[in-house]
Amino acid sequence: MQPYQEEYIANLKEISLLSVQRGQDAPCFEAYLEGQRQRRARMEQVVARNMSLLRENLFPLLDRLFEAGDAQLVELEEFAAALFDGRSELDVGLFRQIYRALLSRSRLRKSRNDMIRQLYWLGMGYNCLCTKLMGLENAADGYTSRMRLCFMEAAAYLKYFDEIEDSGTKGYILRSRANVALGQFKSPSEKIQMVKYTLKIMQDKEYQEKAPELPWNRYIYMTHLQMVASLSRSRERAMTPQDIAAVMESVYIVYQTQMAQAQERGERPPARISFSYDSINYYCGLDSLDGLLGRMELLMDRAEDDDYSADGIYAMISLPAFYCNFLQENPEKVPERREYLDSLYRRATDYAERFPQPAENETLFFALRQMTIGFVETGSGLSYGDLLQRLLVRFLPEMYVHSHTVGRTAAAFCRIVLEEEPSFFDDMDSIREITDFHQKEDAVSDYAMKAGLFHDMGKISFPNLYSLTARQWFEEEYELASLHTQIGEDRLSRQPSTRPYAPVALGHHAWYDGSGGYPDSYVRLECPYRQMVDIIGLVDWLDNVTYTTHRYTGMKKTFPEAVREAIRLGGKRFSPLLTGRLEDPAVERKLAEALEGSRREAYRRLYEAFPGRQAPAPR
Ligand SMILES: [Fe+2]
Ligand SMILES: [Fe+2]
Repeated sequence: MQPYQEEYIANLKEISLLSVQRGQDAPCFEAYLEGQRQRRARMEQVVARNMSLLRENLFPLLDRLFEAGDAQLVELEEFAAALFDGRSELDVGLFRQIYRALLSRSRLRKSRNDMIRQLYWLGMGYNCLCTKLMGLENAADGYTSRMRLCFMEAAAYLKYFDEIEDSGTKGYILRSRANVALGQFKSPSEKIQMVKYTLKIMQDKEYQEKAPELPWNRYIYMTHLQMVASLSRSRERAMTPQDIAAVMESVYIVYQTQMAQAQERGERPPARISFSYDSINYYCGLDSLDGLLGRMELLMDRAEDDDYSADGIYAMISLPAFYCNFLQENPEKVPERREYLDSLYRRATDYAERFPQPAENETLFFALRQMTIGFVETGSGLSYGDLLQRLLVRFLPEMYVHSHTVGRTAAAFCRIVLEEEPSFFDDMDSIREITDFHQKEDAVSDYAMKAGLFHDMGKISFPNLYSLTARQWFEEEYELASLHTQIGEDRLSRQPSTRPYAPVALGHHAWYDGSGGYPDSYVRLECPYRQMVDIIGLVDWLDNVTYTTHRYTGMKKTFPEAVREAIRLGGKRFSPLLTGRLEDPAVERKLAEALEGSRREAYRRLYEAFPGRQAPAPR
C-alpha cells in the first residue's frame, strides 16, 4: 500500500477508537466535558487530514485510472480490501467508489477476469447498504437492484465457464450466482426459487468436473444455509407448500451437520439452527404455534448473557425479536406471556448495554435492527421509547446529545410561541382539547421534548454512518442518511407509545414551501402536527450547523450566522411564523441559552451513565 493509504487506514482506526465514549471516569464533570471537547476537536482534525489525503492522492488517481500501472492497481485493491473485506466495515463508501472506478476501467479494457472479480466486490459493497435498510422495501429497492445487477452480471459468465482458466475467477462467478439471492424480495417464494437454482448449479457434476479444485462441498453447504435463511417468519408473507419442502430439505441437512459438529465438541447446536428446525416443523404442521413459542422460550432461556459471539447475539437479541414477530401477528398470545416478555426485554437490553466494544460490530447492529422492528409493548415493561433512548445513549451518544438538545430547545421555543399565541398548536387534537393555559403549555413542552428525542431515531439503523465517519460524506451516504426520516416514521408508528412522534421523524427535513428537503411522502399541509414539525426542523438545523453534523457535511456556522441564515430562508425552508420570532434579539438569546444549557445537561447524563451499568432514567 502507498503511505497515504496506510495513513488513511490508521486514521479510520483512530476515529473508531475516538467514537467510543470514554472519560466517564474523569474526576469531575467539567474534566469530562473538557475531554469531550478535545475528542471532538481531534476527530475534526482527523477528518480534515483524511479529506486532504483523498483530494491530493486518491481522487486524482481515480480520475486517471486508465493511465495507472499494474502495481498501482494492485495497491488500490489492497487498500480497498483494508476498507472492507466482506465482514468488517471500515469505510464501505470509499470501497464502493474505488470499485466503481476499477470496474469502468476493466470494462473499457475488456479484461474479463478483473471485471468479474470487481462486480462481485461492488455487489458486496451494495449489500452492506441493503442490510441496513431491513424492513423498508421501497427505500431499499434502488440499492437492492444495484447490488443484484452486479451479481447477475458476474454470474452470467457461467456460460463461459469452459473458457475461463483462472479458478479464482470461476469461484467469483459461482459466489456471485449464490449472492443473487441476497437482499429483500417481494415474497419468500422469489428468493427460494433463486436459491433452488443456485443449488442446482452447485450440485451439477458437469460444472464440478470443469473446476475440481473449487470447494464445491462448501459452496453447496453455504447454499443450504442461504436456503435456511430464506425461511419466512411472517404469516403475511406465507410460503407455498413447495417452498416449505425446499427449505425443509436444507434445514434438515444443516441441522444434522451442525448437530454432529456440536456433539463432537460436546456442545449444543447453535440456537439459530435449532430455531430453524423448530420453525420449519411448525410451518409444515408438525407443531402448533404454542409448541413453537415454547421451544423458542427454551432456547432463549438457555442463552448465555455473557456470550458476545455471533451465536450469542442471535440467541440474546435476534431470537427475542422473532418471538415478538410471532406475537405481533397473534396478539391474543401476548397477555399470558406479558411477564415473560418483560423479563426478556430486560435481559436483551442489559446485554446490549454491557456489550464490550460495540463499535464496528455490524452483527450486533443487525440484531438490534431486528429488535426495533419486532417489538411488542406490554404496557407493564420496557416501553418502545425507553428502548430507543437506551440504544441511543449506548450506541450513538453524540446523537443522544443532539436529540436531547433539540427536544429541550424546541420546548423552550414552544413556550415563547404559546405566550403570544395560545392556540398555535391547536391543529393537534390532544392539545386543542386542553383549555387551561398552563396545562396546555406543559403538554406542548412535553410533546416537543419527546418529539426532539425521537426525531432522529431512524439513525439507529446505521450508527456507524455517524460514529465511524472519518471523512465528509459522499453523495450515496447523504442519500442513505436521508432515509432516517422514513425509517424513523416506520419504527415509531409501530408502537402506541411512540406513534404520536412519527410525523415529526418523517417531516423534520422537509422544507416549509415544499421546494426542497425530503422525503416527498411528507405533505406539510395535510399534517396536523406541522407546527411542531416546523419547530423541530428549525431547531434541528440550528444545532446541526452550529455543533452536530459539520464533521460529515463540512458546513459550520456560529449561532448568530445560523440565525441570520435561518431568517433569510424563512418562508422557503423554514416557517416564517418562526423565523419572524428569531428576529427578536431576546428570542435569539433565549434559544442560544437553551441550546447551550440542554447540551450540557445531555453530557451530564452521559457522564453519569456508565455504559453497561445504568442508563439515564427515561423522561
Ligand atoms: Fe434528522
Ligand atoms: Fe436531527
